[in-house]
Amino acid sequence: MRSVIEFLNHLPELSENSQNILLIYDSIFEKKSEVRGWLKKIPYKISVRSGEQLKTLGELDRTIQKISGLKISKSTELTFVALGGGTVCDFVGFLASVFLRGRKLILIPTTWLAAVDSAHGGKNGLNFRKIKNQIGTFYLPQKIIIVKTILRLQPNDRLVEAMGETLKVALINDKKLFFKLENPISFDEVYAILPKAIDNKYKVVKKDPLEKNGTRRLLNLGHTLGHVLESHFQISHGEAVLHGLEFSARWSFQRGLLSEADFIRILVSIENLHLKSPLKFYLKSISNLQIKNLLCRDKKITAQSRMDFIFIKSIGQCERNLVAIDEIVSEVVRQRKEK
Ligand SMILES: NC(=O)c1ccc[n+]([C@@H]2O[C@H](COP(=O)([O-])OP(=O)(O)OC[C@H]3O[C@@H](n4cnc5c(N)ncnc54)[C@H](O)[C@@H]3O)[C@@H](O)[C@H]2O)c1
Ligand SMILES: [Zn+2]
Repeated sequence: MRSVIEFLNHLPELSENSQNILLIYDSIFEKKSEVRGWLKKIPYKISVRSGEQLKTLGELDRTIQKISGLKISKSTELTFVALGGGTVCDFVGFLASVFLRGRKLILIPTTWLAAVDSAHGGKNGLNFRKIKNQIGTFYLPQKIIIVKTILRLQPNDRLVEAMGETLKVALINDKKLFFKLENPISFDEVYAILPKAIDNKYKVVKKDPLEKNGTRRLLNLGHTLGHVLESHFQISHGEAVLHGLEFSARWSFQRGLLSEADFIRILVSIENLHLKSPLKFYLKSISNLQIKNLLCRDKKITAQSRMDFIFIKSIGQCERNLVAIDEIVSEVVRQRKEK
């Protein structure tokens, strides 16, 4: 359940097997001088506009029509290559898994979110009628190529994307990694810890590759409240996850699961990232009903309005507990009043 991962400084030379490659890439790269020359060398390619609207059956249909238009010989052992962030990788991952009953897949994730998290573990997803990731398969890419110069094209403030997911996996199972993340961190530092962060995701995925026994749900740490804040306030995923981590740490401490020393370390590590607004600002700017409605949209909810919530037991160890939606809302009410 693990793809080969390559770390490169520059985009890989694909020209040797270029007749077998079908590149699907985020159209923003047509404007980037670092990528334009590389694109020219690839005969079969399709550009797409990234974003949630890409992850739809309509776009799948349009893309398959474009592939037919390329007139690639039927005997070709086609390999799909995705160059883009999480939306492009999810879209191409799904396409590769169903096109002619499955063709090889290589992902070149270009955002922090995709490089640290979404490209790994074999999940892909399309949205259906605005409901996120309703359609999808488990399909492992043969290879994931992480290219330093491409990640560097992102604006600096996107580093929070990496920090949200990296702090998350460190809290789940890597105390040592957490200690490296406590102080503000630069592009090069985040890039250097990428292999460790990715390893930690695989450690969890390995125990539950097809999401059957629930272990993989640990990766949802910080995401229950995170998703609520992300959709209500339209803040970035990474920032929302960081607030979600703080919410979980506060609740875990309140429940007596987490020691005060670890609790404070977690709060300080998030504070050091200087997010635009504190968690409390968001909790005070959304009503209980809005939170409840957004939680009810979560795919992981049970018929009894309960869901798994991931608590932190100590830095490097988490546990999941079934909680009622109303308990989450009551905890929000408590945290709004907390000093
Ligand atoms: N499959 C999984 O396991 C999994 C896990 C988490 C998230 N996801 C999915 O990931 C998606 C979000 O990913 P995302 O935030 O990467 O989205 P995205 O692909 O929309 O990229 C975000 C923005 O960054 C731009 N961009 C991409 N690479 C860039 C670069 N190198 N420099 C500058 N700009 C660049 C894009 O054009 C886009 O505007 C969501 O759809 C989510 O559901 C999937
Ligand atoms: Zn995430």
